[in-house]
Amino acid sequence: MRFSQAMEQALYGPEGFFVRSHPAAHFRTSAQSPLFARAIARLIDLADVALGRPQQLDVVDVGAGEGMLLSHLRPLLPDRINLLPIEIGSEIPSFTGVLLATEWLDNVPLDLAEDGRYLWDGEPVSKEDADWMTRWWPSASSTVEIGRSRDLAWTAAVGKLRAGVALAVDYGHLSGTRPSTPTVTGFRDGREVSPSFDGSTDITAHVAMDAVAAATGLPSKLISQREALHWLGLSGSRPALDLAHRDPAGYVRALAEASEVASLTDPDGLGSHFWLIQTVGCAL
Ligand SMILES: C[S@@+](CC[C@H](N)C(=O)[O-])C[C@H]1O[C@@H](n2cnc3c(N)ncnc32)[C@H](O)[C@@H]1O
Repeated sequence: MRFSQAMEQALYGPEGFFVRSHPAAHFRTSAQSPLFARAIARLIDLADVALGRPQQLDVVDVGAGEGMLLSHLRPLLPDRINLLPIEIGSEIPSFTGVLLATEWLDNVPLDLAEDGRYLWDGEPVSKEDADWMTRWWPSASSTVEIGRSRDLAWTAAVGKLRAGVALAVDYGHLSGTRPSTPTVTGFRDGREVSPSFDGSTDITAHVAMDAVAAATGLPSKLISQREALHWLGLSGSRPALDLAHRDPAGYVRALAEASEVASLTDPDGLGSHFWLIQTVGCAL
């Protein structure tokens, strides 16, 4: 058995982690934050403008989990915007609007290789995977996390977008800064643990974001979450002290927001995640 098959079974098989547990209890993601949703709502508005504010606009969240991002988005968007969560086992329809994928691709099973052979079954890597490694991970001295499955998953999802904007948010790396040790890891009860394959832990690996971007051949912007959230108007600046006297409750609320933005934009944490923004048939 290859690593990707074991990961597939452990996450999505009958006893798989995502089948039997509530992921939000095991890890914190940006999508759980209402302020993150506020920034995404601004991006959706930009896409809506770029598409000429069509009568119907769909926002499709692939790998929606428990749907927290969409439920935070609902009150921020006009009723004509239709929100559609996609989870394992459901198909993305063909649509016009915005494709969202927050921390989806890191959970797409992948294979690992060393010295031209797959880890686990020791078979030589396929020509397609060898070509991917030559282009995207040429350093032979380390374990390669072959990101081709993520490229294919993203390309298939974006292929459903007739026109609009696609956004993938994830932790990852770029050519020239590939990790020298494997990033495959597990999460359980909010803590990082060794991955286990009995469905009791999440199993995830960082995403080769530049490879994912290139796979679709579409115009791309690849920036950090910190840059993206600043661009979309989340400043994180502390409220002025005089607000504390005029409106103490408002001051406390503003302070809590500033600390949430600080956490979403932390350069050593969520702020270092990548935002891959691609456009189909429109320009932002
Ligand atoms: C880490 S969770 C992210 C949940 C949410 N987007 C967030 O950011 O909090 C990854 C989700 O992707 C889902 N997923 C994995 N492969 C999928 C696929 N092929 N189609 C739809 N959902 C998938 C998993 O079931 C899981 O709920």
